[in-house]
Amino acid sequence: METSVIEKSNGKIEVLPDLEALSLRAASIFVSASRDSIVTKKRFAVAISGGSTPRRLYMLLGSEAYRHRVDWPRVHLFWADERCVPKEDEESNFRTAFDALLSKVALPDKNIHRIKGEEAPDKAAGDYEEEIRRFFGESERPRFDLIMLGMGEDGHTASLFPGSKSLEETVRLAIPVYLEEPKKNRITLTLPVLNDADQILFLVTGPSKAAVLSEILGDGEKKKGFPAGLIRLAHGNITWLIDHEAAGKLGGLRSH
Ligand code: 6PG
Repeated sequence: METSVIEKSNGKIEVLPDLEALSLRAASIFVSASRDSIVTKKRFAVAISGGSTPRRLYMLLGSEAYRHRVDWPRVHLFWADERCVPKEDEESNFRTAFDALLSKVALPDKNIHRIKGEEAPDKAAGDYEEEIRRFFGESERPRFDLIMLGMGEDGHTASLFPGSKSLEETVRLAIPVYLEEPKKNRITLTLPVLNDADQILFLVTGPSKAAVLSEILGDGEKKKGFPAGLIRLAHGNITWLIDHEAAGKLGGLRSH
């Protein structure tokens, strides 16, 4: 199965055969983005996501094949969102990254800017915002070099869900979000922070996401109903890495 690339006004869509090919491609994008940022800024500020899709990527970056390709002491790791659970919890996005990657690379503890999911949601969000402002400078608008995002079947990204008031936040950098179903709290970066990034990399796989993806990547207005469709970078570029199954309903888009 071949790989195809579709250029769009605000970025690029790469359709890859499967999760393995997608994860290898994401690993090479991570490596080159880290090198570019470290050459120009002496650091690489990256925010990662949770969920199942990026796990293979994290394993690759922590593997013998990749771990020496990244200058980890110059990497500053943040999260796009976190579940309000202790860091040892199975559901913790920190734990997902720790088990697959952080426990395998020479990333200094002081460079790991974790969302403290074990704290009360408001405090966790406030502390995380302070941490981001401290790192980027109080007066600066935080501009991540790279933010890696996933997308849910409902079109959510990070922990920004369809119809949620969190989508209207314009001042705070990180906010608590309460999910009615399954009655859980999360902390998420807000849209202005995501849209200020230099680069966004979406990783999306599986047939269950094809319908929403065709709306978001299509040219219709419906995309605005999906948080992932509200990612519009002010000055950066977006790359969508999607597998064949998730691309199943892109139809005409793929024939260009
Ligand atoms: C999280 C994520 C979330 C995730 C999507 C897709 O904490 O769960 O940040 O936004 O990216 O839900 O999840 P999957 O990769 O498991 O489909």
